[in-house]
Amino acid sequence: MSDKDASANLQALDMLATMVALVRPDGSCLFANTAFETVMQLSRRAVERSNLIDWFADAARLREAMEGVSRNAYSSSRFDALLRRVSRPGEEPLPVHVIVSQTDRPDQLLVELIESAQQARQDREERTLDQVQATKELIRNLAHEIKNPLGGLRGAAQLLQLELQPTELGAELCEYTEVIIHEADRLQSLVDRLLAPHRKAQVVGDVNIHEVCERVRSLVLAEFPKGLKVLRDYDISLPDFRGDREQLIQAVLNIVQNAAQALQVRISDGDAQITLRTRVARQVTIGKQRWRLALELHVEDNGPGVPPEIRDRIFYPLVSGRDGGSGLGLTLSQTIVQQHQGMIDCDSEPGRTDFRITLPLP
Ligand SMILES: Nc1ncnc2c1ncn2[C@@H]1O[C@H](COP(=O)(O)OP(=O)(O)OP(=O)(O)O)[C@@H](O)[C@H]1O
Ligand SMILES: [Mg+2]
Repeated sequence: MSDKDASANLQALDMLATMVALVRPDGSCLFANTAFETVMQLSRRAVERSNLIDWFADAARLREAMEGVSRNAYSSSRFDALLRRVSRPGEEPLPVHVIVSQTDRPDQLLVELIESAQQARQDREERTLDQVQATKELIRNLAHEIKNPLGGLRGAAQLLQLELQPTELGAELCEYTEVIIHEADRLQSLVDRLLAPHRKAQVVGDVNIHEVCERVRSLVLAEFPKGLKVLRDYDISLPDFRGDREQLIQAVLNIVQNAAQALQVRISDGDAQITLRTRVARQVTIGKQRWRLALELHVEDNGPGVPPEIRDRIFYPLVSGRDGGSGLGLTLSQTIVQQHQGMIDCDSEPGRTDFRITLPLP
């Protein structure tokens, strides 16, 4: 390989979200990618003057791995370790998964570090995507199965009602048929909501995320005019993107409405707060796909947090922790955002709940 090819290869490593370094078997750094610099908060020159071993809480484990790989006892070695960030002495060391592997040169080793939290998040996202696919299928079939008999049921109750005589008994029986019709209608609208995101065709146009936020903000403030503040923290440099504006408004609205509903107590106390925050994100992985640029919209509230017993399942249909909730809001939002190649996830503790919508940008 020519030197030019080699340097092009090294540059390609800068696109990765995981930290990668090329080192000599003694740990001295030959190259470190951008992700490495960012996490260590050191300039590339400083990184490249360092010895990797100095950064590990358990240096012996790394030394042993590099030694084993370089004398070909094994071609690669994986282990968990703690990375010390020298530039930030007060900070906790960062848990990472380390992979040491051979390169085509015996005097050079490749060391990859994956943040454990990042790994856990990626695993969780992939699981969510798979689950959403599976439940989507189930819902669609089930909803169709319910719809037809339900129509029959309602029609029959109506005919029955027409047959009833205007006597006292007839009026009493009428109440029963009313119940059937009413409940059938309720079920019908539930089924319609279940099917809605799959039925409507997308109307694609240029979408400005802040226009979406502003619409949602005014809708929610109209619904909760007292005791609730909706703060904005926008990165106005974010570009427009292609998408279905109305659907995205619906998706964000469901999330902000949930936050407002969770804030009931604070709303009566007058210190309820929701923040809409937009940020740019680089080199993000959504599901299995990687994007150079994305936007993040955080919906943050100071409410009690998602009840722990449903925390892992809030994006599932019919999961609700709220009296009178149908448990469809978040399912719908997730479906809409996924139709835009994006992803919603949630981080919640009492006093701070953060729903993050990530959407790829052109
Ligand atoms: N910001 C939040 N704070 C606390 N809990 C939340 C928050 N957002 C969602 N939840 C919990 O997640 C559950 C599921 O939300 P989802 O929007 O899917 O359904 P729902 O609000 O119960 O019903 P629907 O939206 O269909 O009327 C809620 O019932 C609530 O318990
Ligand atoms: Mg809801």
